[in-house]
Amino acid sequence: MEFSLIYRSKIIINAYSGWISGSSMVLDIGCGNAVVTDELKRHFGCDPTGTDIMDYRKRDIPFELMKSKRKLPFKDKSFDAAMFNDVLHHCEAQEDLLREAARVAKKILIFEMEPTLTARIADFIVNKIHNSKMNAAFEIRRSDEWKGYFKKMKFDFDYRDIKKPFTFYPFVNFSFKIETPV
Ligand SMILES: C[S@@+](CC[C@H](N)C(=O)[O-])C[C@H]1O[C@@H](n2cnc3c(N)ncnc32)[C@H](O)[C@@H]1O
Repeated sequence: MEFSLIYRSKIIINAYSGWISGSSMVLDIGCGNAVVTDELKRHFGCDPTGTDIMDYRKRDIPFELMKSKRKLPFKDKSFDAAMFNDVLHHCEAQEDLLREAARVAKKILIFEMEPTLTARIADFIVNKIHNSKMNAAFEIRRSDEWKGYFKKMKFDFDYRDIKKPFTFYPFVNFSFKIETPV
């Protein structure tokens, strides 16, 4: 399983290429087992902190447990970037969390997937394997729906389609970089 997480990390690294600089302070919201967080640290040389509503870390990174599903336990603009890696579709308070991320970080990075049937099934199985207590997907939005959502929130964003690593890879991924208002 660790192998598949490291493989997934490489896809996320590609999705964020040029968007994370060395030594930047990065908050990984919904860091989960923190394998991806640690792999991003190794690749970019950034300084990550994890936060989640559950603590099931497998890698030893600085971590704060969230006491609320819609509030982040950090001061205003205390990070260069805040990331949501396959997290937003598990959250019921998406707008609240995005506004919180904009409060605590100068930019927001998002890695998400298109809600195809194959992706929904694969996402459910993979999540059950990694943490059987994880909440099911709440709302998986298409990339064009996210674009409309961010425009409504008055967020300026860059968007990337992520190339599938192999033909039968079950997910169609995309990423966003949002520069947050000061
Ligand atoms: C699919 S996992 C992704 C874990 C990790 N980001 C990764 O890429 O391996 C989704 C994570 O979102 C977390 N999560 C769900 N609701 C959340 C919320 N409201 N705030 C923060 N994290 C949340 C879950 O606990 C879980 O760890």
